[in-house]
Amino acid sequence: MAVPDIRDDDIARMVEVVRSGQLVQGKAVEEFEAALVAFSGIPHCAAVSSGTSALHLALLALGIGPGDKVLVPAFTYPATANAVELVGAKVLLCDVDPQSYVVTPQAVEKALSSPEGQDIKAIMLVHEFGFPVEVKSIAELAASRGIKVIEDAACALGTIADGFHPGYYSDMACFSFHPRKAITTGEGGAMMSRNAELVTLSKRLRNHGTQPVNGRMDFTEAGLNYRLTNFQAALGINQIARFGQELAVRKEMVEVYCALLQDHASIGLPRRSDGHSWQSFMVVLPDGVRERIKQLMIEQGVEVNLGAHALNCLSYFEATYGVGAATCPVSTALYHDGLVLPLHGRMSMRDIEDVAGKLLRSVSECCG
Ligand SMILES: Cc1ncc(COP(=O)(O)O)c(C=O)c1O
Repeated sequence: MAVPDIRDDDIARMVEVVRSGQLVQGKAVEEFEAALVAFSGIPHCAAVSSGTSALHLALLALGIGPGDKVLVPAFTYPATANAVELVGAKVLLCDVDPQSYVVTPQAVEKALSSPEGQDIKAIMLVHEFGFPVEVKSIAELAASRGIKVIEDAACALGTIADGFHPGYYSDMACFSFHPRKAITTGEGGAMMSRNAELVTLSKRLRNHGTQPVNGRMDFTEAGLNYRLTNFQAALGINQIARFGQELAVRKEMVEVYCALLQDHASIGLPRRSDGHSWQSFMVVLPDGVRERIKQLMIEQGVEVNLGAHALNCLSYFEATYGVGAATCPVSTALYHDGLVLPLHGRMSMRDIEDVAGKLLRSVSECCG
């Protein structure tokens, strides 16, 4: 479904770092951070060991902790909410829009105005599959109530939300460089912000809480080890530079998918938006047929999978918060009926046509 774009020059750069013997937190990490700053225009960046560690550090840096409540979209990867649980805060789930698969400003406002939403301290905004959340108005609403905003941009390198890359309107944006993402360092992540102090604090927290004090290294915080290795960073640097071109190709591929699939009443297409970075392309199928269609596609040699999870349907959140399928019905439906089709820069337009044709045949076989 996703094939990393790792080329010989990426590998050569990585090998050079391995040979240098400087494996952790060195020049390549700084170059990787500088490349992300240049790509996004967001001035401050801390590279870290994963998207999950970025989310965890963002919450810690913003002072979110035990007893605090954080609004989280129900349709996401569980790491978004797990990070909240790990700092001892509580999750309040918000349902998403059925076509964009992300939260709307209206849904956030409703959640903040609800009795359970009165004491929310932070909002996690997930640009699911790269769709740009309307972050500007949500950030303004949050600021008026003293609420922090973190963008979970794990899937959103290259997403443009209200004219800017993630990290512009929010306190912090968190990216993932897992192999299913736009660029990859194996495991890896980054935090980006316009707030230099927050990023400096995050850099201390990723490295055991160290900083120089009076000419010696001191430990001023109880930190973690969430560093990215130097050779992982080296692998990612050129990928960032190439990703701008790949974004344009992904958008063309999505147009082809949509043109080929739009006339089939049983296939729900995702909402398109200029700022979408299309990390994944998920269609929505009629209730109850996804697993059968998934099987038919796999039998025809096409790798497909579910999209994201409905947190309200996962055991941990059911047991902890007493939520269930009916709590966030849109997320529940997307979790059960969503199907992600292959989309990556190594596919040709003919590959896209082939996948679309196989999906149309499979859906016709199942649904008529
Ligand atoms: C929305 C979202 N948040 C967070 C993560 C976690 O990122 P990582 O796997 O790099 O820890 C993912 C990964 O799939 C994700 O999709």
